[in-house]
Amino acid sequence: MLKKIKSFSISGIETLPIIEGGKGVGITNGVTAGHFAKAGAVGTFSGVNADYIDENNQYHPLVFKEQTRRLRHEELIAYSIKGGIAQAKIAHDISANLGRIHMNVLWEMGGAERVLHGILDGAKDLIHGITCGAGMPYRLSEIAEKYRVYYYPIVSSMRAFRALWKRSYHKAKDLLGGVVYECPWRAGGHNGLSNAEDPNAYEDPYPRVAEIRSFMNSVGLNDVPIIMAGGVWNLEEFEHWLDNPEIGPIVFQFGTRPILTQEYPVPDQWKQKLRTLKEGDVYLNRFSPTGFYSSAIENNFIRELKEREIHQVEYRAKADNIFDSAIAFGQRGRNVYIKSADKIKVDEWIKKGFSESMKTPDETLMFVDKSKAQQILTDQINCMGCLSQCRFSNWSDKEEMEYTTGRKADPRSFCIQKTLQDVRLGTDIENQLMFSGHSAYRFATDEFYANGFTPTIKELVDRIMIGK
Ligand SMILES: Cc1cc2nc3c(=O)[nH]c(=O)nc-3n(C[C@H](O)[C@H](O)[C@H](O)COP(=O)(O)O)c2cc1C
Ligand code: SF4
Repeated sequence: MLKKIKSFSISGIETLPIIEGGKGVGITNGVTAGHFAKAGAVGTFSGVNADYIDENNQYHPLVFKEQTRRLRHEELIAYSIKGGIAQAKIAHDISANLGRIHMNVLWEMGGAERVLHGILDGAKDLIHGITCGAGMPYRLSEIAEKYRVYYYPIVSSMRAFRALWKRSYHKAKDLLGGVVYECPWRAGGHNGLSNAEDPNAYEDPYPRVAEIRSFMNSVGLNDVPIIMAGGVWNLEEFEHWLDNPEIGPIVFQFGTRPILTQEYPVPDQWKQKLRTLKEGDVYLNRFSPTGFYSSAIENNFIRELKEREIHQVEYRAKADNIFDSAIAFGQRGRNVYIKSADKIKVDEWIKKGFSESMKTPDETLMFVDKSKAQQILTDQINCMGCLSQCRFSNWSDKEEMEYTTGRKADPRSFCIQKTLQDVRLGTDIENQLMFSGHSAYRFATDEFYANGFTPTIKELVDRIMIGK
């Protein structure tokens, strides 16, 4: 064991200072979480539309029966609750009562609070902690108090945690299990970069975590661990963080590295792909329908979204001195107006087959080919309301907003629910979203994975504990 790596009290018992980063949709589940816990660490299943598996180990996929997105949203919530309870049971059974089981949810998922209540009503004794990120989960502490489970907000700055603390968390101090610092420049999945932060100006996590510690100490949270997430490959590289009063109690969360283990329910092509990545193949993009930045592996899916951004020109409904070139829009061929310089580009795109124009909420026209235009419209129609608000389909889960964001649907984004379901099932993964942390290129050079070796979760945990 690397000198100074200590066990910690996490969610009520001593565990190894290793946490499995929760990953939706269905990437971390009862099996993966159970194995992390069984290895003496903390496993985290995703409570985002978790698969429902019955007592006979029979998987029941969600088949929507309803015709409107509002009613499909209700079906999704009911399914997620059943699924979450089922995954908690699986995790608990595998864990053999060792380690800890956490559940991860996104605050910005549709009906997040209802899903949390529903799952905890059915399985609170099997779940020791809830991790929650994406957005500002002020009410997380109240929910944790109701069910007496530990809670772990995910933040990317001291300011975010301070706001949560001042508004509500100070009232539920005893159940705050830890504060997850997720590096917004390096972590896989959605990233919490603020508007003031530059995606290209990486900031070292050390001073940012030390700042969180300093604030935590000032409000009496000296013994509450910080969980470092994002870009953590091995603990050798974090030795100066251990036993360091500027950082205090510290635990490490691994998101990307566990994907290449035997138990992970991702298709083999995905695992193979991880072994081939080079530095720079994973980067931040802003296509997600949540509006957040996110980090994913570059593939055809990301390249096609980049192409949509490029195939874009400003337009106006009425002509003026600048927007003076008429162009027919839509089935009725009504004229809209673009700049004459843009008309030359548009003619080129049309010649290449990008013949369909779609309006965006920013008074631009985006050009794609016929099949892509059709797919975008179909995906928008099939929306099942999986987010609290969605830029792609303009869905909102707020009744007072009449279930829409009030903005135009944005064809430059995509249905994240559909692609995340497809990628884990192995359907054409080059054309799906593959979230990943920025350290994924290290699989190719880390000797642990040489000759195609794929560890079990237990072997990975043992390896991490020797610092490697
Ligand atoms: C495929 C994938 C899916 C993820 N999904 C979620 C999620 O649903 N909720 C969440 O809070 N974090 C999610 N994350 C973030 C991880 O939990 C973890 O914090 C992050 O990956 C840590 O950075 P690393 O990838 O450098 O280890 C996801 C990460 C990956 C790679
Ligand atoms: S369009 Fe897709 S991503 Fe957006 S809310 Fe609907 S189901 Fe979710």
